[in-house]
Amino acid sequence: MIDHNISSIIQSRRSIYPSAFNGEMIEEDVIIQLLENANHAPSHKMTQPWRFKIFCNDSKNKLLDEIVKNKEVSEIKKKKLEISFNKSSHIICICMKKNKDLLPEWEEIAATSMAVQNIWISCVNSNIGGYWSTPKYINKLRTFLQLNQDEICLGFFYLGVHNFKNEKTVRRGNLYEKIQWFR
Ligand SMILES: Cc1cc2nc3c(=O)[nH]c(=O)nc-3n(C[C@H](O)[C@H](O)[C@H](O)COP(=O)(O)O)c2cc1C
Repeated sequence: MIDHNISSIIQSRRSIYPSAFNGEMIEEDVIIQLLENANHAPSHKMTQPWRFKIFCNDSKNKLLDEIVKNKEVSEIKKKKLEISFNKSSHIICICMKKNKDLLPEWEEIAATSMAVQNIWISCVNSNIGGYWSTPKYINKLRTFLQLNQDEICLGFFYLGVHNFKNEKTVRRGNLYEKIQWFR
């Protein structure tokens, strides 16, 4: 039998968007705890390809400035981003180190995604919420993010404090339409 607590935690995980954050700061040791859990994700050949760049306080403003410098971000989007950044406590830039001689890229993306899932489920049953954002402009931030040639950015994980309980579930399609048994 599987542990019902684990099923409950997995099924309670939600994307909590910055509009629901209250602007409070998350303690740094909590951020480290989340990232320790991320660091326990599995990876083929133990390459541990996840890399995290953490922005808060003034560095968060600098990241925002860098994004809005980009002319492809409309005025409306800029305003929305400003609100999201202000309400967020930390923005974690999800990065991945390729090991192209060792593994195909998809395996490293898969491992990094598992690390992100660990962060996400670690937020369940707390007043910390987060969501993974994958805007197109991340590709224009390579220099700002000080990415090495063999590193890529897979998006931002917005983290913040919220007062909501029992966020609504985004319904999933029928499992039985997604599985095929070979008995
Ligand atoms: C790889 C990945 C990228 C995502 N990118 C975005 C995004 O750019 N914008 C957004 O609003 N949500 C994004 N999401 C959040 C999903 O839309 C969300 O997980 C989905 O609606 C299910 O909601 P839930 O997380 O509350 O179960 C992303 C999720 C994943 C896993």
